[in-house]
Amino acid sequence: MFKNKIFDTHAHYDEEAFNEDRDTLIRQMHENGIGKIINVGADISSSLKSIELARKYDFIYAAVGVHPYDAEHMTEEDYKMLQKCCKSFKVVAIGEIGLDYHYDDHDAEAQKYWFERQLQLCKEAEMPVIIHSRDASQDTFDIIKKSGVRKGVIHAFSGSAELAAEYVKMGFYIGVGGVVTFKNAKKLVEVVEKTPLTRILTETDSPYLSPTPFRGERNNSQNLRYVVEKIGSIKQMDPETVISVTYENAEMLFF
Ligand code: NI
Repeated sequence: MFKNKIFDTHAHYDEEAFNEDRDTLIRQMHENGIGKIINVGADISSSLKSIELARKYDFIYAAVGVHPYDAEHMTEEDYKMLQKCCKSFKVVAIGEIGLDYHYDDHDAEAQKYWFERQLQLCKEAEMPVIIHSRDASQDTFDIIKKSGVRKGVIHAFSGSAELAAEYVKMGFYIGVGGVVTFKNAKKLVEVVEKTPLTRILTETDSPYLSPTPFRGERNNSQNLRYVVEKIGSIKQMDPETVISVTYENAEMLFF
């Protein structure tokens, strides 16, 4: 167990996967080394549930937004709802929003439209953004650049070290989670190697992306210890330093 507490900047405890033991699990977080958690919305309903969790637990904060998978169903009413949500207690970011071209049936136009609109909401609400980008590196980068938003994190970063450097130059943080522990994580290892620790955030994406040795199982924030150990070994740093610096990064970005 580490002395310092870890910040999980990206989790989805509202999801069904936690229905059986959500409260028990969340109540154990502190004694298992987790300091704070941001519960991230992916549509209106999960955004509202994130706000509820933040109300219930003092160490949980909320992000609200509509994920690219739901973009084609998003309406003006949803947008107004998000505007309202931004003003709610303990909402600290807009997300997760972005582009995802992984599946063939994606509606790229709807995704781009609502991504741009939600980025404008970040500016209006003066909040950082949590970006989801999959198989859409160039469009994501171009849209963010054009939007003028300069505060946020690229969640589950999967691009090159060069792209990470571009984002850092623009003012963004790089989100690193369980994937960095995978055997085939060469590209992400290089990103971690070359990105200053002061620009890295720790995250799980629970219940997804469990690190080795729990790959494929349900993830939870406590598994971040494997992630900070891996970051420490890549950067040849004490894991305690990794934990305290990344915690401070999250504090700077979200509070
Ligand atoms: Ni997520």
